[in-house]
Amino acid sequence: MKSKPVLIDTDIGVDDAMALVLALNSPELSIKAITTVAGNVDVTKCTRNVERILNLLNIQDRPIVAEGASRPLRLPLVKASEVHGKDGLGDASAFLPQPRKSKHPSAVETILRCCDQYGSRLTIVAIGPLTNLALAWKKNPRVMKKVGRIITMGGAIRVPGNTGPVAEFNYFVDPDAAHIVLNSGVPVTVIPLDVTHQVVVMRKEMEYRAKRRASLAALAVLKFTESYMRYHLDTQGFNGGYLHDPMAVGVAIDPSLVKTRNVHVDVESKGAFTRGMTVTDLQEHHNPSQSTVDVAVAIDRERFLRLFHDRLWK
Ligand code: RIB
Ligand code: CA
Repeated sequence: MKSKPVLIDTDIGVDDAMALVLALNSPELSIKAITTVAGNVDVTKCTRNVERILNLLNIQDRPIVAEGASRPLRLPLVKASEVHGKDGLGDASAFLPQPRKSKHPSAVETILRCCDQYGSRLTIVAIGPLTNLALAWKKNPRVMKKVGRIITMGGAIRVPGNTGPVAEFNYFVDPDAAHIVLNSGVPVTVIPLDVTHQVVVMRKEMEYRAKRRASLAALAVLKFTESYMRYHLDTQGFNGGYLHDPMAVGVAIDPSLVKTRNVHVDVESKGAFTRGMTVTDLQEHHNPSQSTVDVAVAIDRERFLRLFHDRLWK
């Protein structure tokens, strides 16, 4: 099977880290580059966390690790260390290998170079705020337009937000960047809270599978997901976690995991109460051929969880 060239753009927090393990353990994908962006935690911590995960999995054919934007295009940075820990890995980074001390190229240059080199074969999986992608588009839209597809975890179409009443975190942090990417004309698949909130993994299952696998990587995954799941227990009443970012990677591996709808969707960036809200035209009359955005409206939950566990504990 020919593997698909992929660039992952991440604000690596805990679910991002699970998404990276899923991606790096999946032969269907060839991870060419991982670019970091400020979001869950500061971008310098994100870059160190990517290096930690690559060392944890002992990846030999290492992707380029590039560092990106330290803040959104216009607004001040909002972080989520209460969810992901101060280090972005559940304050458990001490249980992971130390990051390599190395210089990192710029995320924008790396994104444009991959678009130029792989063209329509490239899939960009964006699992944080879209700041880097928007900057790359502003710098060279002609090259950016060569990419095959952008899969972005973000937005909330018919469900409440997770950052205030109407916004999802990634699009709340940088609504201007989300607006640019969703209107870029590049084919985009949006993986919103509407589908990611339909799937949770329970702590008991993580413990059972990690102890059965009993590898260093499996035990480290158990460690760095611990406080993420406790956060959900404290705030949502279940001892487990949502798999927002792993779902975006899952769709890159197997697009048939989701049912999508071609719609016009934009992101509010000026509202006093609606910063980051995805505003979607769900009326039947609009002409779908004018939209380059497909929004996931349903997920094959069982099949996704099977894929997730099959690869996470490889
Ligand atoms: O709203 C969920 C998204 O925000 C995920 O990407 C999570 O990592 C945070 O960045
Ligand atoms: Ca993320």
